[in-house]
Amino acid sequence: MEQPYVDPSLDLEAEIKRLKRERNAILLAHYYQDSEVQDLADVIGDSLQLAQAAKRTNADVIVFCGVHFMAETAKILNPGKIVVLPDLDAGCSLADGCPIDRFRAWQARHPGAVTISYINCSAEVKAASDLICTSSNAEKIVRSVPADKQILFAPDRNLGRYLIQKTGRAMVLWQGVCVVHETFSEKKLLALRERHPNAALLAHPECEPGLLATADFIGSTSALLRHAVESPKQEFIVATESGILHQMQKQAPHKTFIAAPPESSCACNECPYMRLNTLEKLYVCMRDLSPRLEMPEALRRAAELPIERMLALSN
Ligand code: 13P
Ligand code: SF4
Repeated sequence: MEQPYVDPSLDLEAEIKRLKRERNAILLAHYYQDSEVQDLADVIGDSLQLAQAAKRTNADVIVFCGVHFMAETAKILNPGKIVVLPDLDAGCSLADGCPIDRFRAWQARHPGAVTISYINCSAEVKAASDLICTSSNAEKIVRSVPADKQILFAPDRNLGRYLIQKTGRAMVLWQGVCVVHETFSEKKLLALRERHPNAALLAHPECEPGLLATADFIGSTSALLRHAVESPKQEFIVATESGILHQMQKQAPHKTFIAAPPESSCACNECPYMRLNTLEKLYVCMRDLSPRLEMPEALRRAAELPIERMLALSN
């Protein structure tokens, strides 16, 4: 989506706050959003926390600053609300790499298996899954499946491999990857660690196995944040989308946080989809209550079931 024209004399922060009140809206933001978007949010969280916040809200409008599958999940869990997101094109390489027809064909090759899908997938894939998980509850969800059942895990192969290692449970993996967590350079990381020998390496489980093998702590974005704040360590190298550093720095201002280096000199540790949500688009989507998340009721109901199973197991 093109950047919309917005009167440059407008105070966008003030306008967004005004619209929040006027629309009785709640603004949910993922940790991977720009810091200026995070600072306007009512709730900042990881995928699970944002899904839970969307389900329990009494607001009339949910403004979702994240990617499409997250806003879709909000609509699935709270269908009576208007759900808007700043840019409908904010996709995800994991969701895009798992089209429903190939996913169904894959399932058909493994009859009788239980399918666990990472929440980073389309509503159609959710509807065809038995259970959904996020990075913060994935281990629990895998362990909930009876030992005699074969498990199919989609779409993130790195999270899948990490879970196989953690739980000792064999799983058939869909071969999807996150474009952001794939870009970290192990060579540059090694050099960085030599220059900062006291720094702890924090990594999201979407990272490559080689990187995870050298990490001091592995967890979802909220787990990484909690660990960074509570750890007695003073210095951290952070291998996940660099938006999380904003909250780390805010909650532990005296500590040092270094973003793990990507392979090239690009800003590839910023998610190109998450960062489509600019302040201008956020303002316009709240002003116009568009673009909205809509889906057929039959699809919504089918997708709701495995998400609700996940939420019940997450309590
Ligand atoms: P969490 O929000 O579960 O940490 O996952 C990170 C992510 O990549 C979201 O797209
Ligand atoms: Fe998808 Fe990766 Fe972006 Fe998360 S960081 S939304 S997994 S592309």
